[in-house]
Amino acid sequence: MGAVDPGLLRDDLAALYPQFAVTVAHAGLLLAPPTDVELLELAAIVAEPGGIVEPGRERELLGWPTEGGAVAARRFLEWAWRLREVPTAGRWRLPLAVIEGGRTVGLVVLSHEVDHPAGTVHTSSWLARAEQGRGLGRRVRLMLLELAFGHLGAVRAVTGAAAGNTASLRVSTRLGYRETHRETGSVVEVHLAVTPGAWRRRRLADVVVEGLDGFREAITPG
Ligand SMILES: CC(C)(COP(=O)(O)OP(=O)(O)OC[C@H]1O[C@@H](n2cnc3c(N)ncnc32)[C@H](O)[C@@H]1OP(=O)(O)O)[C@@H](O)C(=O)NCCC(=O)NCCS
Repeated sequence: MGAVDPGLLRDDLAALYPQFAVTVAHAGLLLAPPTDVELLELAAIVAEPGGIVEPGRERELLGWPTEGGAVAARRFLEWAWRLREVPTAGRWRLPLAVIEGGRTVGLVVLSHEVDHPAGTVHTSSWLARAEQGRGLGRRVRLMLLELAFGHLGAVRAVTGAAAGNTASLRVSTRLGYRETHRETGSVVEVHLAVTPGAWRRRRLADVVVEGLDGFREAITPG
């Protein structure tokens, strides 16, 4: 049996779930909905001690399990599989693998939840620790905002990070996000929001968004 072609799997999945057709590309970086091929690559990063954050800082990944190894990999996969659902105007989840030079290096999720006001989207993201700190996080966020504001008609994008998560907060504030509120649980969570006006001044040129028609139709009210 030959190697599994994730592009073909994505086409088959897109025939049932329109979000699988969506891709966002910029200068050698591709965001594409993860098939099990990419999810297993990501699960290996999740399972590795210190694969995403320095050991001991896992609490900064809000809601992330503290276990490692196979338990963490399974929890990650089960969480990711639960995101596979038919998108509607009221609720949709668009997970996208971050693929650089054919390697899967992280995962982002653009979503709209039932308790969000119309036009609000949420982003979350993580990159393998070995890939952090060289500008990928900033570019990926700008690619997501291009999709949300430039193509899906969103009017507000929100995100959250632990108060000690300097890299994540720095990505947000440099892109024009403003803090909206804080929540204190096991860590202090900082919540931030950005509007299309603030994003437009930092917009990335030459972002290519493809395969959006079926997804946009599914999430358009009425
Ligand atoms: C948060 C994350 C996505 C950011 O991506 P990244 O590629 O590492 O960040 P970038 O290289 O684009 O850097 C963004 C900014 O943060 C700064 N930064 C990066 N790492 C930093 C660190 N450890 N301490 C302080 N500043 C840091 C960079 O200097 C840059 O600032 P600048 O634009 O003023 O130069 C990535 O670090 C990550 O996946 N972290 C672990 C998971 C996580 O925390 N996810 C988000 C919350 S759930």
